[in-house]
Amino acid sequence: MSYYKHHLFFCCNQRDGGRTCCNDKGATQLRDYCKSQVKKLGLAGQGQVRVNMAGCLDRCEEGPTVVVYPEGVWYRYASQQDIDEIVDSHLLNGRVVERLRI
Ligand code: FES
Repeated sequence: MSYYKHHLFFCCNQRDGGRTCCNDKGATQLRDYCKSQVKKLGLAGQGQVRVNMAGCLDRCEEGPTVVVYPEGVWYRYASQQDIDEIVDSHLLNGRVVERLRI
């Protein structure tokens, strides 16, 4: 049994110049939003959901990226609405959001 039911890792890597990075596309702000929504819904904590920052997950061109374990499902998101959908569909109801999956 996993310590967390769903453990999310948001790439929040900031890179200057050259290759694109998730943080240039709003990763930190949307990770903070996700964390606050999870908390607001009472989903945070052991046996439930944990939202963490990560360094580069090496899918930079597809980002901003988040991966959900233990399922190993990767998403690309672009807005608070995308985050809301991941929280509501995947975290609350166990349904992968296919339109955001990478
Ligand atoms: S910068 Fe986010 S996956 Fe590399």
